[in-house]
Amino acid sequence: MQQDRNRGAIDAPFAVPFVHRLRFTDDVLGADRQVLADVLAPSEGRPARVQFWADQHVLEAQEGLRERLRQFADSFEHIQPAGNVQVVPGGEEIKNDIHILERMLKVFNAANLDRRSYVVVIGGGAVLDAVGFATAIAHRGLRLVRLPTTTLGQADSGVGVKNGVNLFQKKNWLGAFATPWAVVNDARLLDTLSDRDWVCGFSEAVKVALLKDAAWFDRLCHDAQRIGRRDLSAGLPAIRTSAQWHLKHITEGGDPFEMLEARPLDYGHWSAHKLEAMSEFSLRHGEAVAIGVAIDTVYSSLKFGFPRRDAQRVLRCLSDLGFSLDCPELRDVNVLFAGLEEFRQHLGGRLTLTMLHAAGQPFEVHEVDRPAMRAAIEQVAEYAQTPNSRRLTAS
Ligand SMILES: NC(=O)c1ccc[n+]([C@@H]2O[C@H](COP(=O)([O-])OP(=O)(O)OC[C@H]3O[C@@H](n4cnc5c(N)ncnc54)[C@H](O)[C@@H]3O)[C@@H](O)[C@H]2O)c1
Ligand SMILES: [Zn+2]
Repeated sequence: MQQDRNRGAIDAPFAVPFVHRLRFTDDVLGADRQVLADVLAPSEGRPARVQFWADQHVLEAQEGLRERLRQFADSFEHIQPAGNVQVVPGGEEIKNDIHILERMLKVFNAANLDRRSYVVVIGGGAVLDAVGFATAIAHRGLRLVRLPTTTLGQADSGVGVKNGVNLFQKKNWLGAFATPWAVVNDARLLDTLSDRDWVCGFSEAVKVALLKDAAWFDRLCHDAQRIGRRDLSAGLPAIRTSAQWHLKHITEGGDPFEMLEARPLDYGHWSAHKLEAMSEFSLRHGEAVAIGVAIDTVYSSLKFGFPRRDAQRVLRCLSDLGFSLDCPELRDVNVLFAGLEEFRQHLGGRLTLTMLHAAGQPFEVHEVDRPAMRAAIEQVAEYAQTPNSRRLTAS
C-alpha cells in the first residue's frame, strides 16, 4: 500500500479469489444428476434454496423437462425448490424487453431469494445473459448456475463472466461482470437444437483455436465436415476444448473483467457485431462471427504475413462447418466500417483489435488500413460466391 504523506491519498491494490466451476455431463437431470446436485451446496447446514429458470423454446422442445426438473429437486434432501419453474422467452426477445428484467427481480423478491440462494438457468446465450444480469444485481449477486443449451452457450458465452440486456437499441448496453457459481455443459440439452443453431457455436471454437492453439486448429479443420453433420464424437470434444480455452483465458489471462484495452477473445468481432446489427439480427451471433473471423484472417494475411495457405484453410474450415461467409451487408462497406468506432466506444480508450501473424500468434493493432480491409472483405465475399473453386484470389 502506498500512502501519500501530504494529502493522505491511498492506492491499495487488492485481489479477490474466485472459483470457476465447469462441469461436463451427458444427462444432467438423469444419470449425471449428482454433478448438478453437488454444485448446489447447502450453506451453513441449511438446504440449498434453488429456483429454476428455463428458456421457453427449450422447455417446449425438451420433452418432460419441467417434470424432470421437479424430480431432480425432489430426489435430493439438501435441495429445496423456491417455487415453480420460471419460464422466459427464448432468443433476443428476452434481452430486448426491459420489463422482463423487472419481472425477474419481482419473482426473486417474492421468493425471498438471498445471496446464498441459487438460480439455475437453462437456455440459450440470450437467456443466460438476461437471467444472469438479473442475478448479478439482485442483492448484488445471487448464485448463478448456468446450463447452456446451445453450442454457442456451451463453447463460449456460458463460461464467460459477462451478463447483460440490450438497451437504447444497443446490444448489451446494460450489463455487469459477474462470475457464475457453476456452469454445467450437458450433451443431452443440445439434442433439440436446430441445425442452424448447432453450427453457430463452432465459429467461436475456430476463433479461440486461431488465437491460442494451432494444433487444435488443425484438428478442427480435419473434423469440420463431421461437426457440420452433427457427429457428436467430433462436436462434443470441440465444444469442450473451446469452453476450456475460454475458461483458461478468464482465469489465467490476467484481465477477466476487461480493464485493459485489448480484448483478444473478440477476434473478428468488430465486424461481427456490426453485421448482426446491420442485418437487424437476422444473422445469428455465431454466423456473424464466422464472417468476422474470415475477414480479419484474410486482412492478417494481406497485412501481417499470416500464411495465405492458412487463411484459405480458415475459410474452408468455416465453410465445411456449414457457415455461409457471405451476406448482403458485406456490400455496404462504409456502414460496416462504422463498426470500428462502435467497437472502440464500447470499451473506451483507443481502438484495439487483435490480428494474427500465424495461428497461435495474436498481436494487437490500433489502426486499420481501410483499403486493405476493404480488399479482405471483398475476398471473403468472393470466396463465398465461388463454391466450386473455393479459393482465395491472389493478394
Ligand atoms: N455473455 C457473453 O459473453 C456472450 C458471448 C457471445 C454471445 N452472447 C449473446 O448470446 C446470445 C446468442 O446466444 P445463442 O447463440 O445461444 O442463441 P439464442 O439464445 O438466441 O438461442 C437461439 C434460439 O434457439 C432456442 N434454443 C436454445 N437452445 C435450444 C435447445 N436446446 N432446443 C431448442 N431450442 C433452443 C432459443 O430459445 C432461441 O430461440 C446473443 O444475445 C449474444 O449477444 C453473449
Ligand atoms: Zn462472440
